[in-house]
Amino acid sequence: MPDAAPYPFEPSPARGRVLVFDSGVGGLTVAGEIRALGPRLTVHYAADTGFFPYGDKSDEALRERLPKVARALVDAVRPDVFVIACNTASTLALAEVRAALSIPVVGTVPAIKPAARLTETGTIGLLATPGTIRRAYTARLIEEFAAGKRVILHGSLELVKLAEAHARGEDIPPEAFAAAQAPLFNAEGGDEIDTIVLACTHFPLVRGQLIATAPRPVSYIDSGAAIARQTIRVLPENTQSGGQGGTSLLTRPPDETDGITRVLRRYGFPDVQFVACEPNATTSADAAP
Ligand code: DGL
Repeated sequence: MPDAAPYPFEPSPARGRVLVFDSGVGGLTVAGEIRALGPRLTVHYAADTGFFPYGDKSDEALRERLPKVARALVDAVRPDVFVIACNTASTLALAEVRAALSIPVVGTVPAIKPAARLTETGTIGLLATPGTIRRAYTARLIEEFAAGKRVILHGSLELVKLAEAHARGEDIPPEAFAAAQAPLFNAEGGDEIDTIVLACTHFPLVRGQLIATAPRPVSYIDSGAAIARQTIRVLPENTQSGGQGGTSLLTRPPDETDGITRVLRRYGFPDVQFVACEPNATTSADAAP
């Protein structure tokens, strides 16, 4: 029998407490990567359910919200590292969150650099929230790492909602996933796309559905594994706590009809707590310009 292929990564013996944060359940894709790479870490999870979704909020509302919510969540579980498992938040307010916390903060940004290395046709699709699509940060990443490539962008809040619904166990018709990604393939030059960056942490939850409903085979890549590596890299030395468990924190009290507690339980976060967070002066109804 031929030798088995080498395992793609060696789990790290690192110990410590990590808090993974997103607007909703998308960051669970990143928490899973961190748990796989650092099985001795205690991984907590927080969802800003009181302000979900982020993808259609104004920059002003998010800039006001993020440092406040980050501080409240960090005060609740005292992690060694805070991971913003959200492209929409990281591409806007990473600096503001870093300034508000005294621990290392890891951000999530679109995997444009690996996509530029991977593409053979030179045409990359970027699937994200409308917020991430319009960020100057995203434009800079493209300029720096994908110069000479064609990058076709599409922002879909609908796909965020489909991914949340899918995670809650709803049966979504495949056509909905086909329709959510169709604008990429239908854009000028879209028939050349061979690599799609999933630049929203919700989207790897429905990677299988995207692959199954694409008009032809393309690679879907994301930053989850890179974030896990970076999280372990920035863990302060001699962090001793760690092991199993991990609490999940929500910023809106979960009620009986809210399926998110069931999702969290299924992903290994059975202990769900509510963290009160001051409401924004600018409300969640403020749509992006
Ligand atoms: N999961 C988030 C991201 O990576 C955003 C989803 C949302 O709240 O719109 O961008």
